[in-house]
Amino acid sequence: MEKIILWYLRMSLIYLLLGAVLGVVMFIAPETASYRSIHAHLNLLGFMAMMIYGVGYHILPRFSGRMIYSNTIVRVQFWLANIGLWGMIVFWPVVINGAGGIPSAMLSISGVVESLAILLFVYNIMKTIKAA
Ligand code: HEM
Ligand code: HEM
Repeated sequence: MEKIILWYLRMSLIYLLLGAVLGVVMFIAPETASYRSIHAHLNLLGFMAMMIYGVGYHILPRFSGRMIYSNTIVRVQFWLANIGLWGMIVFWPVVINGAGGIPSAMLSISGVVESLAILLFVYNIMKTIKAA
């Protein structure tokens, strides 16, 4: 298995742990439930999406009997997806606690970076399976 794919899987499992810990915290201390959007995205964008990126990049080219369209995209997407998500994890709590200004702008930028990663995945997989 390629190194970068292993990293998608490793990061996915790290986000699962973080998301589950936050879930348990919210369960024990319901006053922290305002962080549910962070919990949701750690689990859905972090664990689920990152796992699907890794497994998808490993399996889909094999299903279609061809190489992945762009290995550069696989790498760039990895960094965008992780930087975007860490931005969301770091700035979202600050914004939830009432901050506007720079934290709010950073949160928006993180969301855009995360969206770019999603777009790259869609493009790369579409191009890979197209000629199957
Ligand atoms: C140890 C595992 C988990 C625990 C203890 C946990 C606990 C919680 C708690 C306490 C809430 C807040 C409920 C409230 O609004 O008061 C919540 C919300 C949520 N959880 Fe989890 N969770 C866990 C795993 C997961 C996983 C694996 C996923 C997704 C793959 C997930 C997705 C969500 C979502 C989407 C919400 C927000 C639901 C809404 O919109 O109200 N959770 N979770
Ligand atoms: C570029 C990526 C994404 C961005 C920027 C984003 C942003 C947001 C925002 C701003 C909210 C509203 C939170 C609030 O109520 O304050 C939200 C809610 C939510 N999003 Fe996302 N999202 C993204 C991707 C996803 C994906 C891929 C999933 C599912 C696989 C997802 C599932 C949810 C869920 C379940 C909620 C409701 C959570 C809650 O109860 O607070 N999001 N998202």
